[in-house]
Amino acid sequence: MAEPYRNSDQNSFAFTSATKRWPIIITQAIDAVFRAIPGPSDELKTKEGRKIVEDLAKLKYELQHNRVLSPLRDDGLPDIAHYNDALAALGEPRWLEVSWLFSECYLYRRIATYFKTTTAWNTFDVFLSSKLTTLRSSLPAILELAHRYSSITKQSTFTDDASSLLFDEIFLICLWGNATDLSLLTTLTYDEIQSLQGSHARKESEKNILSNDLDKIYDLLTSLKSSGQQERRVDIVLDNSGFELFVDLYLAGYLLSQGLATNIVLHPKNHPWFVSDVLPSDFAILLNALQDPVDFFITKNENEHEIKHELKTEDAEAIKGLFASLATFHAEGKLSIRTNKYWTLQDPFWTLPEHTELWEDLKSSELVIYKGDLNYRKLTGDAAWPPTTPFDKALQTLGKGSGCRTLALRTCKADVVVGLDEGVDERLRQEYKDNTNDQSKRSWAWHGKYAVMQYCDGKA
Ligand code: F6P
Ligand code: MG
Repeated sequence: MAEPYRNSDQNSFAFTSATKRWPIIITQAIDAVFRAIPGPSDELKTKEGRKIVEDLAKLKYELQHNRVLSPLRDDGLPDIAHYNDALAALGEPRWLEVSWLFSECYLYRRIATYFKTTTAWNTFDVFLSSKLTTLRSSLPAILELAHRYSSITKQSTFTDDASSLLFDEIFLICLWGNATDLSLLTTLTYDEIQSLQGSHARKESEKNILSNDLDKIYDLLTSLKSSGQQERRVDIVLDNSGFELFVDLYLAGYLLSQGLATNIVLHPKNHPWFVSDVLPSDFAILLNALQDPVDFFITKNENEHEIKHELKTEDAEAIKGLFASLATFHAEGKLSIRTNKYWTLQDPFWTLPEHTELWEDLKSSELVIYKGDLNYRKLTGDAAWPPTTPFDKALQTLGKGSGCRTLALRTCKADVVVGLDEGVDERLRQEYKDNTNDQSKRSWAWHGKYAVMQYCDGKA
């Protein structure tokens, strides 16, 4: 069995992440709370806000001085015991001693306790403002896709070839929508975000998909459709809000309108998570933005650094058309959102079958799509597998015979990778070696430039 990546491993992104990125993310959280402290007009909120700032500063200090991870404060939610039991089992580990996956989840869950234990900040999303900014900056890509939505979702008169090309394109859009997550790309400019999202960028990046099982998904969903099976549900375990959630909904709209699925269930997080992950409130924000795009993208856009977008009448109409379609699916019960505390546990997904209710629910789906890097890390235990390890082996309990079909749509932003052909990792390490000729790091896999679309049929 492969060992999980640890924060102390200087060759892995875990080390860079724990020592460089997390302190920046905590500082940004401190700024966000500080800016939201109301002052004398609201004494309680001000007092609690100052305490949160103090707690965050203490957390940053402990992290940067490699102190022992303290048990999580009881915020009344049932997952605290799960974290604290795991922590107790590890002895009294320090930040650099623990596994990357455990400590990164612990970090975000610990930040959540600071808010959950207050009265006035209970529902405050400390990462909201950065999420809104990136959603607004995604307008050009949203427009490009919105204008195409009605032709894409018309009842299919496509030839088989055209229909499989369209299928691939929509899945590619959904895949690369994951390249813009905020925890990693904090330094991107608006222009850079926009250029990452356009159709030209998508074409260019096709060669960077290192393992691609999309044909199998096309065969699966089209043959289920022709089988006449009444209910054909597809689940999406979401990753980031903003543009990525937009493309996830776009995929949902496409699958439902083409009859490639009869129901789509979306799984968001319960707490602000890895900066940009979807909360139920982000889902509502996006739908409101699509319902009234002028208000969200133009009127309420207060970011003076952003080039002011214009929204012509036909643009606003295209976005509203997309909203109307999604709202209808939602009202008909075909598009729904389902929360579960499991998604913010520290566990690799290998423990899913132990969570009987959720597991039985997922097994009743025809396909479970896991978006993004963190979900991939959890699917594979965030472990240092040889890169040619078969995907189904790395899935462990979710692999063959599990009863669940798993598709990972992941742009690579961490070390773990499986299912590659012999020699691919070596070639990319060689290309990315630094000027000291150091090939010991898998740095090609850290920045979302490469991707995998990997499938395991656990129902076979
Ligand atoms: O290290 C970068 C990172 O924060 C990883 O910890 C995490 O896996 C990833 O970015 C988040 O990416 P995504 O939003 O695709 O899960
Ligand atoms: Mg994320």
